[in-house]
Amino acid sequence: MDLNLICRNIFKKKSMDDLINTSKRSELKKTLNVFDLIVIGIGAVVGTGIFTIIGTAITGSSESAGAGPAIVVSMVLAAIACVFSALCYSEIAAMIPVAGSAYTYTYATMGEFMAWMVGWILMLEYAIGNITVASAWTGYFIQFLKGFKHVLPDWVVNFPLWLRYDYKTMSALCAHNNWDIHDKVPYLFGHIPFAVNLPAVAIVLVLTLLLIRGVKESTRVASIMVGVNMFMILSFIIVGAFYVKPEHWTPFFPSDPSGVIMGAFLIFFAYIGFDAISTTAEETENPQRDLPIAILGTLVICTILYVCVALVLTGIVPIERIDIQAPIAHAMSYIGKDWFAGLISVGALCALTSVLLIYQLGTTRILYAISRDRFLPKSWRLIHRKYRTPHVMTWISGLVVIVCGLFMDLNISAALCNFGTFTSFVIICLAVLILRKTEPNRPRPFKVPLCPLFPILGILICGVLIVFSLNTLKTSSVYFIIWLFVGLLIYAFYGYKQKRIEERGRIIRRPKNDDKNIIKVK
Ligand code: ALA
Repeated sequence: MDLNLICRNIFKKKSMDDLINTSKRSELKKTLNVFDLIVIGIGAVVGTGIFTIIGTAITGSSESAGAGPAIVVSMVLAAIACVFSALCYSEIAAMIPVAGSAYTYTYATMGEFMAWMVGWILMLEYAIGNITVASAWTGYFIQFLKGFKHVLPDWVVNFPLWLRYDYKTMSALCAHNNWDIHDKVPYLFGHIPFAVNLPAVAIVLVLTLLLIRGVKESTRVASIMVGVNMFMILSFIIVGAFYVKPEHWTPFFPSDPSGVIMGAFLIFFAYIGFDAISTTAEETENPQRDLPIAILGTLVICTILYVCVALVLTGIVPIERIDIQAPIAHAMSYIGKDWFAGLISVGALCALTSVLLIYQLGTTRILYAISRDRFLPKSWRLIHRKYRTPHVMTWISGLVVIVCGLFMDLNISAALCNFGTFTSFVIICLAVLILRKTEPNRPRPFKVPLCPLFPILGILICGVLIVFSLNTLKTSSVYFIIWLFVGLLIYAFYGYKQKRIEERGRIIRRPKNDDKNIIKVK
């Protein structure tokens, strides 16, 4: 075994010209404009974070203090943590408009092994993160059905618990309520307990079919969802503003300052997603101009909306009365507007559906780029003849969410998603620093201001968040390390070999074993 050769191979980078040529030859349809990209951005960002997690971030939990009205400070802190990475994403996405996001950028800067590992880590952010969103979707769906309890039959509104939750959640629920699980869950063949989050499975299946139909069709559906949820959020801000009592904002800062930091950490989840814009670079009409506008535009729009929502929410409801399951809808009930609370649930459902849709889109586009580099089987990236979408890949990512969702604890999937996101943000900031050295003269339609200060700040902030969460979230830290190890094994036993086969060309011997007849096949 030649160690030098192995080292050379695993650090082999993809040339920027190759990447740009690949993108020009892409079979994917170029149909997205800046408006579509902002819809993708807002659709991926506004979801569980602002509709659910904001409650815990304000009130705190048994493990941590809450931010109180100072949640707006936490939001600005979280936005600052994202802005450095967003600027770096913008510079590279405009420079290398290729599908695959951080995976592709790493290939051009740190070589094939790191690229594969980043692609593998991105699956945590996108596919595993979607498990959390799918579960929150079920929660709002149940609330939505309850809103129609006078119209719908009882068996629809109160469908069995074992069709609402995965087995782990079901066991926790039974333990919490002192129920005997044998009474609540059916047993297949008398031994195997059966519980499934059916609404989550159904919505992921529907979205998978939609994505196969086409990216333009999918973004059209996403635009409707984003339109509805933006309308609900704006209505909440406007209607709620009339009921704000400024005395609820005092004391503005909680006594324990760690509440503001913990609030920033939790609400960070509400900002995840703007990077999904860069995964569709090959389907964008004018990527150099539109990607930076869309990435930064999304971040600015969402920060303004979030701060307004937080001010209204904390202005209407006293901190100790804020609901942690559906805080925004509950605030409307609090001021006696139950019908409006029902509409907010519709807005939340739309928001979560668009997050699911765009994350599924992102997963397939990253897998597409990884498979094009031979780290995954070629058959995975077959393009549908009629719809010209990677349909095999789309099915695989849909099934991963469904199958993992059957077994995985939701808090753990959320934490793993955060690990994946922080890591990809660090890599993106590093990639900007490396490319400024190795490719100083390559045209950059957009440049990160104050480089290297901004990328370094991005690395420091996200690095601190990773270390902080590794120390706090023990179980998911172990899963994260296992995930990295499995990625390493796949590379060692499959990806590395496939890559070498691609480089050498396959040698086929003719039947007579005549060396002169060895031919090379591309
Ligand atoms: N930012 C996305 C959400 O809040 C992930 O659901």
